[in-house]
Amino acid sequence: MITIAVDGPAASGKGTLSRQLAAHFGLHYLDTGSLYRAVGLKALNEGIDLAEENTVARIAAELDDDILDDPRLREPGVGEAASKVAMLTGVRNALLNYQREFAQRHPGAVLDGRDIATVVCPDADVKLFVTASVAERARRRYKELLQTDPLVKLEDIQAEIERRDARDCSRSAAPLHQAEDAHLLDTTNLDIETAMNAAVLLVKKAMAQQDLN
Ligand code: DC
Repeated sequence: MITIAVDGPAASGKGTLSRQLAAHFGLHYLDTGSLYRAVGLKALNEGIDLAEENTVARIAAELDDDILDDPRLREPGVGEAASKVAMLTGVRNALLNYQREFAQRHPGAVLDGRDIATVVCPDADVKLFVTASVAERARRRYKELLQTDPLVKLEDIQAEIERRDARDCSRSAAPLHQAEDAHLLDTTNLDIETAMNAAVLLVKKAMAQQDLN
């Protein structure tokens, strides 16, 4: 059994890296941001005030797997709503068990998010903190969104990322920060292949360590 925790800010490349790591080692993969996005999307659809803790927490507790495949989850407005509902302790608590149970799936799992190494899986075998400069993250997200929306503007994307960073890092409930025992992977000047090679080495080292114990 191996658990790999990957945290980092919006559009840092943690999702791509985590998905590839899971495929490489034959592990399950959970994008925990999609859970918060699903809660945000449902609340928006139902016209619920995003600060209404009890109502939004109920949505989180009753979340259905189907909505996790909704393409609207990737929209910038939904990312922003996700970041708002993620401030609520009731919402975070409602999503905690699902994430912890997922981490127990055999033969192991990669989970990415903001608080995986610090709160969800503090005993993870490998902890990665993936980041990149704001300008680089905005450029990557812009390129991705341009494929479906030719009118998207780089400065709007950068402003949205900065707002989310500020909210995700300063909230009182499980704020984003690098765990003491997490390895920092700054991908500002790294392509995905180089970042992946570095991550694979760290995971192999942890696996060798497990074999020794
Ligand atoms: O990783 P993402 O951009 O899809 O996440 C969307 C929002 O969800 C993010 O701005 C903050 C929140 N989130 C969180 O608070 N904790 C997590 N483990 C994952 C996401």
